[in-house]
Amino acid sequence: MNIVFFTGAGMSAASGLATFRGPNGLYEDDELEIQDYLTLSYFKKHPGKAWDWLRVFIAEMTNAKYNEGHEIIASFQNASVVTQNIDCFHQQAGSKEVVELHGSVDTCKCIECGKEQPLREKCDCGSWTKPDIVFYEECLNFEKIKQSRVIAEKADVFVIIGTSGVVWPAAELPVYAEKCGATVFEINPDQPSFPPYSPDRYIKKNAIEGLKELKEKLERLYPS
Ligand code: OAD
Repeated sequence: MNIVFFTGAGMSAASGLATFRGPNGLYEDDELEIQDYLTLSYFKKHPGKAWDWLRVFIAEMTNAKYNEGHEIIASFQNASVVTQNIDCFHQQAGSKEVVELHGSVDTCKCIECGKEQPLREKCDCGSWTKPDIVFYEECLNFEKIKQSRVIAEKADVFVIIGTSGVVWPAAELPVYAEKCGATVFEINPDQPSFPPYSPDRYIKKNAIEGLKELKEKLERLYPS
């Protein structure tokens, strides 16, 4: 059985990271201001100011750790993960095939000389770097989109976890996977973000509890 996990910010909530939307989400207080820091034209004009915000945003991730949910996903043999998260937790928990659609905080690129390097604020040439995360006004990496679609096409089971499903093109993936024949499950403690699946395929729980329930369900549905 080919299983694909498609994750968003809710996946890392149990690690102490805020989601973007919803109660206590990062965008709740000042969405426009935060979007500035994550917008390419603003970043190019005011890299120092943007880094003042990014430094704290990134430190929250680098000081946090993957949670039991990431470990459960990694325990599925040969599962693939497509994530919108930039925190690198799936790989750190042991998942082998991970597509980071929105990039990651692992690496960066100098905005002047273009040198690619592990994440740091300043390049050897003295210029600011930009973290390899997808900013507003930037396109997603085309190879990653292609790779995620190939993964979705092959999925027998496609599991959506902790995403509001409002950011495209990532949000098309579950719909595409279902069109290609996958059975789609969704785990979200608040509400389903995708077309309502049958009640036994929508699990209204947080990522960790939902994954435990999903594992039992799959063992019943697909006994090995
Ligand atoms: P959102 O913040 O939009 O949505 C988080 C979802 O997680 C919501 O549907 C919550 O109900 C759900 N949630 C909250 N706590 C949860 C928990 N403990 N377990 C499971 N689910 C929980 O996050 P994303 O959908 O990931 O883009 O946001 C998509 C993109 O918007 C992000 O990748 C980011 C942002 O702009 C970029 O940085 C490019």
